[in-house]
Amino acid sequence: MIGIFDSGFGGLTIFKHIARALPAYDFVYLGDNARAPYGNRSQETIYQFTVEAVDWLFKQGCTLVVLACNTASSEALRKLQQEWLPQYVARSDLRNGEVRPQHRRVLGVIRPVIEEAIKITKGKVGVVGTRATIASGAYTRELQKLKSDVTVSELALPLLVPLIEEGWVGKPETKRILRYYLRPLQKESVDTLILGCTHYPILLDEFVLKMGKQCRVLDPGPIVAASLQNYLARHPEIDAGLSKKSVVRFATTDDPVRFNQWGGTFFGKSVKAERVVLSS
Ligand code: DGL
Repeated sequence: MIGIFDSGFGGLTIFKHIARALPAYDFVYLGDNARAPYGNRSQETIYQFTVEAVDWLFKQGCTLVVLACNTASSEALRKLQQEWLPQYVARSDLRNGEVRPQHRRVLGVIRPVIEEAIKITKGKVGVVGTRATIASGAYTRELQKLKSDVTVSELALPLLVPLIEEGWVGKPETKRILRYYLRPLQKESVDTLILGCTHYPILLDEFVLKMGKQCRVLDPGPIVAASLQNYLARHPEIDAGLSKKSVVRFATTDDPVRFNQWGGTFFGKSVKAERVVLSS
């Protein structure tokens, strides 16, 4: 089974594309809605919450987990892969022998998107995301690792997640705030813009309109889905451990009724979630 994790609904904009690209696979989507948003929280808190979520997904039978959350990918992924995962494997997998330790994986959303950005940019990349994602500097670090002379302008847009979750997508106030927010990136003439937050694809058309023809706006969903497909083709040993009965489960740490109401907007079709409790 593949686990998909996000702080709330947002990861559904990524999962929508993954589910379409890999229809035969079994999935569990987990939204930590009770503690969302993560975007203004500290690195320590985001890391702790992400560990609890991945642990829960592993316990459900997932061997591969995608952090479909930019905030978790930028603030928790590296430490989780380097410190927590080896300990988990030693504590659980090596003891009970059910899962081969080398087949347990946690992936993020940043790497596939920056690889795509590097392919198309003429040298000026913009990144928009939550406060925590931007403060982590993860996008700049990873982009400059692949292409040292790329100029990266990162910008936090903290008002957008609440506006989207309040259903203010088409409102003139939201358009005005977006226009105001994006001015610095327009001035810097970025030629490629990464939507580094799972909620922002809901406003994709507005971003495209505001940034103009000179800028390519990257929607992470299709890029992450294609990258995961490619990853599984390159790692048949991991693919072989994933069940394929087209089962899709949705779980939330908060009210499932609210999750079902909003989830449809993000996922593109109706969802039915169960309520779960995470523990450390
Ligand atoms: N899912 C988060 C992200 O992609 C946005 C919502 C939040 O702040 O928790 O960064």
